[in-house]
Amino acid sequence: MTDIIEFKNVSKSFGTLRVLEDFDFKVRKGEKVTLIGPSGSGKSTVLRILMTLEPFQDGSITIDGTSYHQPGGKGPFKANARHLFDIRKRVGMLFQHFNLFPHMTVLRNITEAPVSVLKLSRAEADERARELLSMVGLEDKASSFPAQLSGGQQQRVAIARALAMRPSVLLFDEPTSALDPELVGEVLNVIRKLAAEHDLTMLMVTHEMRFAREISDRVCMFDRGKIVEEGRPSELLVRPSHPRTVSFLGAVLGEGVGGLGDDGDQADPARAEKPPGPRGDTKLFAAG
Ligand SMILES: Nc1ncnc2c1ncn2[C@@H]1O[C@H](COP(=O)(O)OP(=O)(O)OP(=O)(O)O)[C@@H](O)[C@H]1O
Ligand SMILES: [Mg+2]
Repeated sequence: MTDIIEFKNVSKSFGTLRVLEDFDFKVRKGEKVTLIGPSGSGKSTVLRILMTLEPFQDGSITIDGTSYHQPGGKGPFKANARHLFDIRKRVGMLFQHFNLFPHMTVLRNITEAPVSVLKLSRAEADERARELLSMVGLEDKASSFPAQLSGGQQQRVAIARALAMRPSVLLFDEPTSALDPELVGEVLNVIRKLAAEHDLTMLMVTHEMRFAREISDRVCMFDRGKIVEEGRPSELLVRPSHPRTVSFLGAVLGEGVGGLGDDGDQADPARAEKPPGPRGDTKLFAAG
C-alpha cells in the first residue's frame, strides 16, 4: 500500500514555542486515520501544515510523492505560488466553523472554486455540485443561502464544497464540535458514508470517540507534538497501553477506559480486522 502523506523529521515552531519536533508520520492511500490527544498538543497544526495554512521549518513532507518544499524555494513555505497551488489542490479541509460564503447560494458556494480554480464549465460544476448535494442529503437546498440552513446543514454543504475539488486527502478538524448535539449525528452520518463508500484518504481530529472507533483504520494518540501510541481503534481505544492515552481516554470518556467496550468487535469481527484502503466507488471525486 502506498503512502500518500509522509512527514519526515518535521519541526514546527511558533516563535519560541516548539510544537512539532522531529515528527514522523505516514498515511496510506485510502486510509482513515484519527488523531486524538489533549488540547494544545499540535493536532490542528498537523492538519494546517498539510493544508499549507502554516509553514514548517525543518524536515520534509510529501503528498503523493510531491514535496511541499521546493529545492531552493523561497519564502516561509519554501515554494513558489504555483507549487503551493499544486499541493493545495490535492487537499480539502473541514473546519469546526464551516465558513461558507454568506452572500452566495449553496450551489454557488460549491461551484465557485471548481469554476474559478479548476476551470470547469458552469454546467459541469453545477452537475458535480448537484450530485454532491444529493450525497449529503441536501438536493433541495441548492438555491438557499447559508443563513437559511441549520449548522448541521451548513457543515454538510461545507463537506460537499470540499469534495467538489476532488481532493486526494480530506482533513477534518473537529467538524462537529461547533454543532448543537442534535445536529452532530447528521454530519457524522455523511462522514461515515464517505468513509465506507469511497477510496478517499481521511485524516481527522475528533473528540467523538465512538465515531472514531467506528470509522478509523488507525487512531494516533498525540501528546506534545509526538505520537505516543497508535493502533487499531478496537485496541487503542479499548486497551490503551501508554499512560498518557489511559489518562486522556479516562478524561474524555468520563467513564474510564473500557467505556467503549469490546462489543463492537464481537458483533462484527470482520469490521475490526478490515484492512485500510480502497472501498469501491471513487467516481464522485477521483482526482483528474
Ligand atoms: N498561530 C499560532 N501562533 C502561536 N501559537 C500557536 C498558533 N497556533 C497554535 N499555536 C500553539 O501551538 C500549540 C498547538 O496548537 P494546536 O492548535 O495544534 O493544538 P490542538 O492539539 O489542535 O489543540 P485543541 O485540541 O485545543 O484544538 C498550542 O500551544 C497553541 O497555543
Ligand atoms: Mg485543534
